Amino acid sequence: MVVAATEAASAPLYRPGLEGVPATQSSVCDIDGQQGLLTYRGYRVDELAAQSTFLETAYLLIWGELPDAEQLAEFEQEVQMHRRVSFRIRDMMKSFPSQGHPMDALQASAASLGLFYSRRALDNPEYIYSAVVRLIAKIPTMVAAFQLIRKGQDPIQPRDDLPYAANFLYMLTEREPDPLAARIFDACLILHAEHSLNASTFSARVTASTLTDPYAVVASAVGTLAGPLHGGANEDVLIMLEAIGSADQVRPWLDRAIAEKQKIMGFGHREYKVKDPRAVILQKLAEQLFDQFGHDPLYDLARELEAAAAERLGPKGIYPNVDFYSGLVYRKLGIPEDLFTPIFAIARTAGWLAHWKEQLGANRIYRPTQIYTGSNGRDWQPIEAR
Ligand code: ACO
Repeated sequence: MVVAATEAASAPLYRPGLEGVPATQSSVCDIDGQQGLLTYRGYRVDELAAQSTFLETAYLLIWGELPDAEQLAEFEQEVQMHRRVSFRIRDMMKSFPSQGHPMDALQASAASLGLFYSRRALDNPEYIYSAVVRLIAKIPTMVAAFQLIRKGQDPIQPRDDLPYAANFLYMLTEREPDPLAARIFDACLILHAEHSLNASTFSARVTASTLTDPYAVVASAVGTLAGPLHGGANEDVLIMLEAIGSADQVRPWLDRAIAEKQKIMGFGHREYKVKDPRAVILQKLAEQLFDQFGHDPLYDLARELEAAAAERLGPKGIYPNVDFYSGLVYRKLGIPEDLFTPIFAIARTAGWLAHWKEQLGANRIYRPTQIYTGSNGRDWQPIEAR
């Protein structure tokens, strides 16, 4: 939708939600929303999910090239060495209310990293490297720590012998995960690592453009990701599926939801007019998990909802997005629903940092304009006269 600002022919056009308005130039990621194609730095995401690891993909996103063996080994080792968080951060997290949402806990803890690490040497490549390492390393530790703390337990330390994804699942569940579960979880992180100028990445770039520190950049992006129209939808999908209850209830439920003009969670995307390629892969990953660890009846319900929604919403280009099947994968991995969005944040930290670095490379502070719709020339009135 394009709305003319004023009657004047020369007035700027206002596009709600900045739909279709380029707000940056970027070489990080490309989306073909008609074909359902997603590439990171020119590599197809399905190929990366099948062949790469999350840390290798993070390196690719942030530095623009796949690492060679030495670069990858060094990056992995640096990340492994910086996984622990200060006892002060753990103590701070212990004072958070246990019923608070883990996304709020993550936003506060991510911001707190800025208190501990030196700030704003933004023209120093070593500072950039160490900030990237710290954020990629510590965000999962903080997500897992809050999970244990809110259950009344002390967080457990990361295990140096476990790779990134397996270590996160270990810190969360206190059990070494099955290798297939860890591999599928790592693929989920790859699929969520980047997605061009979505709301949280835009938020990260706006924050980055002020030349503040990278911990503030990630904290602002975490807050933006939390909303139900963005990353928060993955949690809401499972709540929705559980509320529908059974496959035979899907069609009457959908009829009611459409009649009431409700948004169906996990459906629709500003960029895709076909099924999100990440949803296609996540669905396959969910099926692999069900084959190995047992079926989930909510999956039958989800497929019925996808079929019914394709009839009703498909003509408008509304199909499952990344959030539709990810929750079923995480549920099978035994992860609580309110951690789905923090897990999204663990992955998307790679994309946010790639955009942070790119923004610094050609920075100009974001300062868009507005179309003023308020009053003018009003005289102040004393309170007794109002
Ligand atoms: N269910 C039903 N109808 C929908 C849905 C949906 N999920 N999404 C869009 N529509 C309809 C709208 O009602 C509107 O119809 P109309 O033209 O008849 O009024 C039309 O499609 C366009 O919708 P907008 O909200 O204008 O689309 P926009 O591009 O602004 O929003 C968004 C995209 C926010 C993702 C939207 O599809 C939505 O709210 N989806 C549900 C929440 C969700 O799953 N979010 C996760 C997105 S992926 C991510 O961020 C990680």
